[in-house]
Amino acid sequence: MIVILNFGGQTCHLIAKRVRSFGVYAEILPSDAALEKITEKKPCGIIMSGGPSSVYLPDAPLPDDGIFGLDIPILGICYGHQLIGKRFGKVANKQTKEFGKKLITITRKGRLFKGLNPKEQVWMSHGDQIFEMPEDFDVLAKTDTCPYAAMENNKLSLFGVQFHPEVIHTQKGNRILQNFVLDICKAPREFTFEGMAEKLIAEVKASVGSDAVLMGVSGGVDSTVAATIIHKAIGDRLFCVYIDTGLMRKDESLEIGSFFEQLSFRHFSIFDASNDFLRKLRGILDPEEKRKIIGHTYIRVFEKLAKKLEKEHPNIRFLGQGTIYPDRIESAQPSKYASKIKSHHNVTLPEKMKLRVIEPLKDLYKDDVRRLGRQLGIPEMLIGRHPFPGPGLAIRILGEVTKERLDILKSADAIFIEELRRFRHYHKVWQALAALLPVRAVGVMGDARTYGYIITLRAVTSVDAMTADWARLPPELLEQVSSRITNEVKGVTRVLYDVTQKPPATIEYE
Ligand code: XMP
Repeated sequence: MIVILNFGGQTCHLIAKRVRSFGVYAEILPSDAALEKITEKKPCGIIMSGGPSSVYLPDAPLPDDGIFGLDIPILGICYGHQLIGKRFGKVANKQTKEFGKKLITITRKGRLFKGLNPKEQVWMSHGDQIFEMPEDFDVLAKTDTCPYAAMENNKLSLFGVQFHPEVIHTQKGNRILQNFVLDICKAPREFTFEGMAEKLIAEVKASVGSDAVLMGVSGGVDSTVAATIIHKAIGDRLFCVYIDTGLMRKDESLEIGSFFEQLSFRHFSIFDASNDFLRKLRGILDPEEKRKIIGHTYIRVFEKLAKKLEKEHPNIRFLGQGTIYPDRIESAQPSKYASKIKSHHNVTLPEKMKLRVIEPLKDLYKDDVRRLGRQLGIPEMLIGRHPFPGPGLAIRILGEVTKERLDILKSADAIFIEELRRFRHYHKVWQALAALLPVRAVGVMGDARTYGYIITLRAVTSVDAMTADWARLPPELLEQVSSRITNEVKGVTRVLYDVTQKPPATIEYE
């Protein structure tokens, strides 16, 4: 396996995903993981990620220095590259920002750049850079403003790149990472997907024994696949609860119910808590506050339901969860070094519960979970759905969430998604959504003046949600959506289409 030390970079997960895509298992550990923690994994290579700190600051995160004596190859990316510079040279770092696509000139291929052209496009995102090479290192590449864009010391097996090979805009990023993982670290390609479902089902069977499992499902891919695995392992000893927050898309709760019925889950119950959620959200404008309230309310409602079920079925001793690898890493390490942009990870674990947690998908990424779901025969309608945030439509209504605004947004959003499917564009975009702006604009209908909300449509293409571009949807589709929303949804006078990229915008509005 490859160990990735996380210095708080926004793209740390992409490194792990890339390495796994080569058939090599990769795990992310905190940047300050103790040497024993690292060596017990028996890694054949270490990658130090990027991060927002500066290596010259007194509180800069540093790895356990022992990693440099392990005699296994180390690759530093961005901040990790600068750390190698600091550790092996009298190197001061200098603030020189570079951001976005850049051309590097490769002055020496070394082992890291085998198979690359003399000039390659890379993705830069840094505020500091090395400006003096440590001794005994060879410079491999430069840009017009970054003289040491890559380096290696073959004897010590140390490699560094100032740019981000894990980001799609680095065109030969995969080749560079393969050179490191497969050629330099000689990592065996043993991480395969074959038999994964059977393995996970057997693990659940072994852990649960003859007990029963309680699980909250959301209708999202992760909890659905996790519930299906647990169901295949223990059948009717699985008790699923779906809490209707009222913040889901139109008719979504009904669809979820009918899906679980189709899969013959015997114990599946829907609990309508929409009034609770609406009441708690009254008067709340701040997005992070909304997220917190939704997370807490969910836990409270779930705890109440759980108590009742546990009384009726005393053999419930486990709590099933759809946690996937990125959730686990980020909640275990809210990374004091990572800049917080949004709290994406919805609180899922009721704190007071005495049940033991069972998380069949805890080592997998979303793509793997989708693959698994298909193998398990879960309908494409569920597996191939666009990502949908835990706090639901609450973060697509800018400002206060009210029943009136929710109803308007649900109807507008349903029209957008319906037309995207009809025009066969649903699967061409990463995510599409309608949001409601809490301001009103004037319109005219018949001979009368109208005054209503503005709906904004957003559809983006992306590979990992880290960066996104607005989707070039056909004008006929947009025209149809706009005309239907303004005609069919009372209270809306305007429909806008968002043409902002991420960055600088984000995919959601809040
Ligand atoms: P942003 O808006 O940060 O979104 O560009 C990136 C991806 O994350 C989803 N997202 C969330 N998911 N809880 C979630 O479960 C959240 O609070 C949350 N906020 C954003 C968003 O839908 C997109 O897929």
